[in-house]
This record gives sequence, structure tokens and C-alpha cells, in this order.
Amino acid sequence: MIPVLARTRTGLAAARRGLGCPVVLVPTMGALHEGHRALLRHGQDLCGPNGSVVVSVFVNPFQFGAGEDFDTYPRTLQEDVAVCAEEGVDLVFAPGRGEMYPGEQRITVDPGPMGQALEGASRPGFFTGVLTVVLKLFQLVRPDVAVFGEKDAQQLALVRWMAEDFALGIEVAGVPTVRDPDGLAISSRNRYLSPVERHAALALSAALRAGRGAASAGPAGVLKAAHQVLDAVPALLLDYLALVDPATFEQVAEEATGAALLLVAARVGTTRLIDNTPLTLSAVKPVERHAVDD
Ligand code: PAJ
Repeated sequence: MIPVLARTRTGLAAARRGLGCPVVLVPTMGALHEGHRALLRHGQDLCGPNGSVVVSVFVNPFQFGAGEDFDTYPRTLQEDVAVCAEEGVDLVFAPGRGEMYPGEQRITVDPGPMGQALEGASRPGFFTGVLTVVLKLFQLVRPDVAVFGEKDAQQLALVRWMAEDFALGIEVAGVPTVRDPDGLAISSRNRYLSPVERHAALALSAALRAGRGAASAGPAGVLKAAHQVLDAVPALLLDYLALVDPATFEQVAEEATGAALLLVAARVGTTRLIDNTPLTLSAVKPVERHAVDD
């Protein structure tokens, strides 16, 4: 099936009228890969036989900082539409900049304190840009459900909170991270990596695995195990490694048990990569705590 391609708000509104319910939106910046395909397939599952999947493709200038890769970000609309056709997408909304931002953006979404931490600390204004464009896409497409990847865990959490706090009436669904066979989380930015850099980048997922493997040694043990892997790769410039409560994104307490999220961000050459893994912290036995403290 060839999806309808809408390049304008008017085209989108016209195509939207013909869509079956529920309408599931998958917002993307294009350059679609296996990670995005997993979101599209989950969208198909959610919408059932009568519903529709809408994919937005828009490289949002407002979420890129000065010196970031807005100009060089891959733009591959023809290939993206072909991927959407393969995945049975009904409608692709690929607006130009002027359609999304016809004038100055006078009002923006404040992502709150958690929007200033972790990714927000490294990329000032990033989550304001993300939430503002996502809210606008929600208003234009008016989906029943929107699908986001757990790869961008903080983004997923903030979109969920926005939907709840503003009573948007949109369900936000998450999809687990899709990885290459070597463990690297798939990202549009992986194409920037040289073979040597790609090898160094494997330390991110390896550190997360090591951290998860040390979950029975408590938060300090998890962070120590992950740091050991990252520290062994000098080509990797660590931005942050954090163990947070998935419900709040606050750093977990020293004695915390239960669900946690281990997040990492690092630069390899000029490419910035992020990854994360969920894990379950178990109570540390006194003897293990002693071993961690050594
Ligand atoms: P983009 O980076 O294109 O990602 C679109 C969606 O795909 C996001 O929800 C992201 O988490 C998900 N995704 C990317 N790689 C993935 C992987 N390996 N496994 C699972 N999901 C993956 O994220 C954005 O665009 C933008 O910030 C956007 C939300 C579209 C707003 O501009």
C-alpha cells in the first residue's frame, strides 16, 4: 500500500478526514531505520484492522542547538515513504519548515525541572523544542495514540507527562530499543561513525549490560561496573552516566531497590550517542556492599 503523502496542513486535514479510528501517530525526523520500523509495527498492532497509522517526518530546527547537526542531519524522504509503504502506513505528514513554523513561535512548552537534567543539561532548550513540536504535531494530527521509543527514555517520559499534565487525551505508548546484533542501539546518527569509532561506541551498550549484571550489588555497584567498561575506552568522551527512578528521573538513593533506569550519553569523535537500559535493583547483602565499597 502506498501511503498518502501530505506536505501541508491543509493536505493533512483533508487526508485526516478519511482515516479509520483509532489513529496512531509515530513522530520522527525521518532517515527511517529498524528502530523506527519497530515503532511503525507497534502502531499497526495498536490500531488494529480498522485504525490508521500516521508517520510525521520533520527535522525540527527548534530542538537543535547551535553547533549541532541540523544542517547535516540526513534527509531521505523518498526512502522514508518507501519504508512507510512496506510497513503499511496510511499517511505520511512531511511538512516544510514554513508549515510547522509559519511565524515566530511565541509560546513554547516548558519541560519543567526534569527537562533541565541529563539530556536537558547537555542540550539547553532541547526538550522545549521537542515538546513544542510534539504538541503541535498532536494538534495537527489529532491522534488517539502516539508511539515513542524507549531509546530516548527521557523524551518518552516528558511526552507522557505533557500528555497527562495538559490532559491531551492522547495515550503515549513506548517501544523497547532496537539494537544491531553487536549491541549498538540503532540511531540515525550511527551513520556518522567511522569503523574505529563504531567499535568504541559499543562500550555504551557494553557498560549498560555490565551495570545490569551488577544489579544485585545495589546502585553503587551498578555505576561502578558500568564506569569500568566506559573508562577502558579512551576514544569515548563520557557526558553522563546516571541511575534514575523511571517514575521521576531523579537519581536513585544509595539504598534503593526495585525498578531503575541506567542512562548513558557520550561523544565518540564528533558524534553524540545516548543509550539506556531498565534494570531491577535488589537489596544488597552486607558482604556485597563491602565489596562494592573497596
Ligand atoms: P527520531 O530521532 O527520528 O526518533 C523518532 C522515534 O523513534 C523516537 O520516539 C525515538 O525514540 C524512536 N527511536 C529511534 N531509534 C530507536 C531505536 N533504536 N529503538 C527504538 N526506538 C527508536 O526523537 C525524535 O526523532 C524527535 O525528537 C521527535 C520526537 C520526532 C520530535 O522532533
